[in-house]
Amino acid sequence: MTQRPKYPQTRFTRACRGEPVDQVPVWMMRQAGRYMPEYQRLREQAGFLDICRKPELAAKATLDAVQVLDPDAAIVFSDITIPADAMGQTLTFEPGPVLAPAVRSMYDVVSLKRVDAERDMAYVYEACRAVRAQLDASKSLIGFVGAPLTVAGYMIEGRPSKAWRELKRLVYGEPKVAHALLERVTETLTAHAIAQVEAGCDAVQLFDSTAGELAAAELQTFAFRYAREVIGALRHLGVPVIYFARNVGAHLEGVADLGADVVGLDWTVTVEEARRRLDDRVALQGNLDPAVLFTTPEEVDRRVHEILKESEGLDGFIFNLGHGVLPETPVPNARQVITSVRTHGRRQGPR
Ligand code: CP3
Repeated sequence: MTQRPKYPQTRFTRACRGEPVDQVPVWMMRQAGRYMPEYQRLREQAGFLDICRKPELAAKATLDAVQVLDPDAAIVFSDITIPADAMGQTLTFEPGPVLAPAVRSMYDVVSLKRVDAERDMAYVYEACRAVRAQLDASKSLIGFVGAPLTVAGYMIEGRPSKAWRELKRLVYGEPKVAHALLERVTETLTAHAIAQVEAGCDAVQLFDSTAGELAAAELQTFAFRYAREVIGALRHLGVPVIYFARNVGAHLEGVADLGADVVGLDWTVTVEEARRRLDDRVALQGNLDPAVLFTTPEEVDRRVHEILKESEGLDGFIFNLGHGVLPETPVPNARQVITSVRTHGRRQGPR
């Protein structure tokens, strides 16, 4: 029996399911962020975490980006590290996330709090409801979580890292501790994703930004295994799930087998190669290098068109960047991405 979706279909959700659309849908990861003057003004009044914790401010950040860019989907304004705060670590931003005390031992893992998502992250779901109430019905609202490995990475390191040395020390040297943490994190993230859908999100994206750092065997057992568990637990909700990881081009077939409806691509693989290797069995999302937005509107247009040509004949295609919009990106070039997709991305499907 297939679950009937609770929400009306949009161009975005249809493409996620591989159904024909009139236009390739488009949104951008980190579309609400520091490059936008509207966001900078919000930040003059409030810290990043205050914005996340005040539903009216979080909703404003999400909706400002929709107003400026007119994408097909909005994304909840929050951060992947919020559930770690709910689990009892103290979260600050300076400006990257800092989580204290860092989780380094079995004692640290068992000391983490059991989360009641509806109680401990209520402000996120209130923000979802506030956005949904104001968002046009033709647009989707994407809820998100970090994938377990990526969130566990921040909890173990305590801050962003280039080498992920402490994460890897646990994964390679103390796998029992790493698995114990990943189990607790998976439980929390699953509840967090479900609560966002119940609060009005009609899709969920998992961000696995750190997965591609692991060796091939550990990628399977410490990243993919837990991502698959979260994705599987969302199936009964009937909303599409997107899995995005970076630097996993060598493992695309494994990524496509995680159970997600959509595979997010970074720019290190082409859409053409992904289609060939995956035989069009999942929808794809991506994959313009965000640094292209530092060139000219003409160059942005040319490269958007190239990617759209590669996606021709694939109903399940969602245009996005290959990673988040970078700080200091010129807003006109961000808008150009959307305009170019609307110009070059017309398709044969129903409106
Ligand atoms: O439009 C949106 O996408 C906004 C919602 C959003 C944020 N973070 C807000 C944010 C989302 C979806 C995220 C995801 C996120 N957060 C990821 C996964 C995607 C990725 O970039 O790989 C990761 C790894 C984080 C952790 C994080 N949060 C870092 C490393 C940093 C500092 C550096 C950076 O990349 O911005 C943040 C801060 C953060 N998260 C800001 C915003 C708007 C900037 C806060 C500020 O200084 O005002």
